[in-house]
Amino acid sequence: MEIKTIHVIGSGQMGSGIAQVAAAAGYDVTLQDATRELAAKGAAGIASRLEKLAAKGKITAEAASAAIGRVRVTDSIKDVATADLVVEAIFENIEAKGAVFAEVDSLARPETILASNTSSISITHIASYTRRPDKVLGMHFFNPVPAMRLLEVVRGLSTGEETLKTALAVGEKLGKVSIISQDKAGFIVNRMLIPFLNEAIFLLEEGVGTEKDIDNGMIYGGNHPMGPLALADLIGLDVVLAIMEVLSKEYGDPKYRPAPLLKKMVRAGKLGVKSGRGFYPY
Ligand code: CAA
Repeated sequence: MEIKTIHVIGSGQMGSGIAQVAAAAGYDVTLQDATRELAAKGAAGIASRLEKLAAKGKITAEAASAAIGRVRVTDSIKDVATADLVVEAIFENIEAKGAVFAEVDSLARPETILASNTSSISITHIASYTRRPDKVLGMHFFNPVPAMRLLEVVRGLSTGEETLKTALAVGEKLGKVSIISQDKAGFIVNRMLIPFLNEAIFLLEEGVGTEKDIDNGMIYGGNHPMGPLALADLIGLDVVLAIMEVLSKEYGDPKYRPAPLLKKMVRAGKLGVKSGRGFYPY
């Protein structure tokens, strides 16, 4: 099936990033959030980032304004009725995602593909809230979406071959490099990445090095674009903790124990860039 219209649910950092790359690639995009004001805020961010790209000469001014014109906002989930592909990018909670998928399933056309941007929740579990598990899969983007080349496509137990092929074709049109992961907790990337960030937090907690020493260790010793503590701040410490908890629960292996300092930071509301304070001030 050829995808022409994409409906993104959730206009936060990830949802608006997905909407931006989709609009830039020529898709008609609807960006949905709980209120029109929230969705409009997401769309304003998209417009300003596209205008910056045009100012830097990365895209033409015409391409930027055409992409901005392809994004409409809504607060109504009923608008999924016109979508070929729905991408859900709300917070990481199975009950909340399940409720969204059940509702979308009842409103979208039967052939519409339903994707979740979940970073750790089982796609098979999410699909169980719908009557079309063959049309459900994971399309996991990376933060910041416009800058990160990867799309991790996650195949649930019942995801159909056609659904997978269609998602890979969308990934190609978005200019992403796709990898396919089976539906196991953390998928491919977060199973490696999040325990690495957690280990950096253990190092800090044990006083083995300062924030700067730990981050510089990987920037200059591993050629990483940013250190693990700064990256944890960028992802959001609540998200990092939620993923560690899923890994710990699903695999029951003590190697996935969340660092106590990570839990403490989240309890203190120090969530990283989004709250203005994490391992660093913002
Ligand atoms: N939104 C959109 N684009 C952004 C951006 C943002 N918030 N921040 C940076 N960019 C873009 C810039 O526009 C720029 O694009 P051009 O090259 O086309 O001009 C490019 O990224 C580089 O930006 P900068 O030169 O300003 O900054 P930088 O070179 O220091 O790069 C970075 C910033 C891209 C964030 C880089 O540090 C990086 O790649 N860090 C690692 C990020 C990472 O690992 N993300 C994955 C997190 S894991 C995840 O998301 C999955 C999960 O489930 C938790």
